[in-house]
Amino acid sequence: MSNTLLSIKNLSVSVEDKPILHELTFDVGRGETHLLMGPNGAGKSTLGNALMGNPHYHVDSGNVTFDGEDLLAKPVNERAKAGIFMSFQNPIEVPGITLANFIRTSLEQRTGKKIRIWDFRKELRKALDVLQMDPSYADRDLNVGFSGGEKKKAEILQLLMLKPSLAILDETDSGLDVDAVRTVSRGIQEYQKDKDSALIIITHNMGILSSLHVDATHVLVNGTIVANGDGSLAEDINRNGFGAYEKNGGENHAE
Ligand SMILES: Nc1ncnc2c1ncn2[C@@H]1O[C@H](COP(=O)(O)OP(=O)(O)OP(=O)(O)O)[C@@H](O)[C@H]1O
Ligand SMILES: [Mg+2]
Repeated sequence: MSNTLLSIKNLSVSVEDKPILHELTFDVGRGETHLLMGPNGAGKSTLGNALMGNPHYHVDSGNVTFDGEDLLAKPVNERAKAGIFMSFQNPIEVPGITLANFIRTSLEQRTGKKIRIWDFRKELRKALDVLQMDPSYADRDLNVGFSGGEKKKAEILQLLMLKPSLAILDETDSGLDVDAVRTVSRGIQEYQKDKDSALIIITHNMGILSSLHVDATHVLVNGTIVANGDGSLAEDINRNGFGAYEKNGGENHAE
């Protein structure tokens, strides 16, 4: 088994005929945590959406392999089944299906097996505990009436329950109060314990990173990766901003 879980090669993506991502290349190994940083509008969420197969995002060229298979050839539902999970920047509300049922159905679809309600409830209770979520949330309709922070916690709850091989967390920490940042960070650490799984964290905040191990940082400016480094690159950006990188190579390809 190769250590590379996700391999992105020269990936170019457009949205409504507007080129957004230009020849992105990087690999994510099993057990690794990668940070994707970049100014607003750089294309970070676009990368996540393209990997998940969102039909608004058109892959113009390039290759992506996941677990050794051609990811781009897979239909959307097959991507989730293959073990990719993305937590959305703005999670949607789904009236009529409870958080618990949503997770149980997703798990059964992914594994192809029925899960006994008792076992499921036990696991769910543990995950709710890690996230300091009141058990009553599990029986509320998915995200309906959840506060911004509660929606983000519900995303991490799904992460802990579904145990995907690759999780893309898109600003899961935005809008969280100081205590919630710590709680969510604990949830992510719990996920990091599985050394076969990998993470791509998109964030603008250093708070979430203080207790997380980071293996690599990629800086995206105007749809192009302008710098790669380890965790210290994120600290450098936190101190000095993106200015230096924008001068280095972030010319706007979009025009
Ligand atoms: N569905 C869409 N329709 C139209 N334009 C889009 C769509 N999705 C992304 N874009 C455009 O693509 C560019 C990159 O957007 P994206 O959401 O990927 O940025 P981002 O790096 O995630 O920014 P932020 O830090 O603000 O979340 C932006 O100019 C955005 O307007
Ligand atoms: Mg975004």
